[in-house]
Amino acid sequence: MTTSATARAHANIALVKYWGKRDAARNLPAAGSLSLTLDALTTITTVSFDAWLDADAMTLDGRDATAAELARTSTWLDLVRARAGIATRAKIETVNHFPTASGLASSASGFAALALAASTAAGLALPARELSILARIGSGSAARSIYGGLVRMRAGDLSEEAFAEPLDDPEGLTPRLRMIVAIVGGGAPKLHGSRDAMEHSAATSPYHAAWVAQVPRDLAAAEAAIAAADLGALGAIVEGNALAMHAAAIASRPPVLYWQPATLAALSTVQSLRDAGAVAWATMDAGPHVKVLTTATDADTVAAAMRATPGVTDVLVSASGPGAELLP
Ligand code: DP6
Repeated sequence: MTTSATARAHANIALVKYWGKRDAARNLPAAGSLSLTLDALTTITTVSFDAWLDADAMTLDGRDATAAELARTSTWLDLVRARAGIATRAKIETVNHFPTASGLASSASGFAALALAASTAAGLALPARELSILARIGSGSAARSIYGGLVRMRAGDLSEEAFAEPLDDPEGLTPRLRMIVAIVGGGAPKLHGSRDAMEHSAATSPYHAAWVAQVPRDLAAAEAAIAAADLGALGAIVEGNALAMHAAAIASRPPVLYWQPATLAALSTVQSLRDAGAVAWATMDAGPHVKVLTTATDADTVAAAMRATPGVTDVLVSASGPGAELLP
């Protein structure tokens, strides 16, 4: 017998970053985080539990998963099996619809789509909060991709308390937001995966503790800025928070340095855009790419300036996207 389900989830970009864990075994973040789910970057995943299979099998964008990818997914799938009281193995087919060969992280949309598809195929009908916890155990940032729009991740004290939830947006800021993703370096594979890099940073960076202490302050200020629809205040926190994360990472020994020359050029373009009166605030994740928070009004101007920046090889524009959903 086969039971299968297909789900779609969208990637998210953190406005206040998750960088560091307080418990690696349960994948509990050291602090909260805040993100915007993006409509332009999606993952579609089908999970089929099949009594004829004697091992899990997985394809990613049509190729067989590596042994490491399969092992990580299989271990995670054991949680779903335990919860559903089944031992059946599964076939997982996952496809990323990212409109560029970007090297952008897909673990957020990947584990969010997987959590919804796998739990549904296993016969569980989990509420969103449970899905968020399940996705978090796969990848911390995936907890946030269960929801659309602006999303807050709680650090929580216990595993059951470390979940994401949609953020109130009383002034209707979300539909006005755009994220411009400027790809640097042609989407070359990233040097250090975020999981290993944040662990190394926590273990060796003299600035890690200061970073972790700063996050709750940035979260409170970002939420207040969103509540007041104050984009200038929000943007300043977004940019400062990303640079603080990178400062802590760069100070690791040996360093975790994602920046390329074109990264600095792109950051300088963002500053020039602001000087010229545009809404443009930079953020960066575990790679050389620069993402710019802007508005629907300024999106074309910002995208054109990023495209004209030497070393920027591709630019995509995204609005806010929806949460994870089942597909027929
Ligand atoms: C820089 O969610 O990939 O993108 O929980 O170990 O899978 P794991 O880490 P992951 O880390 C994301 C780091 C980041 C910042 C963010 O998305 O908040």
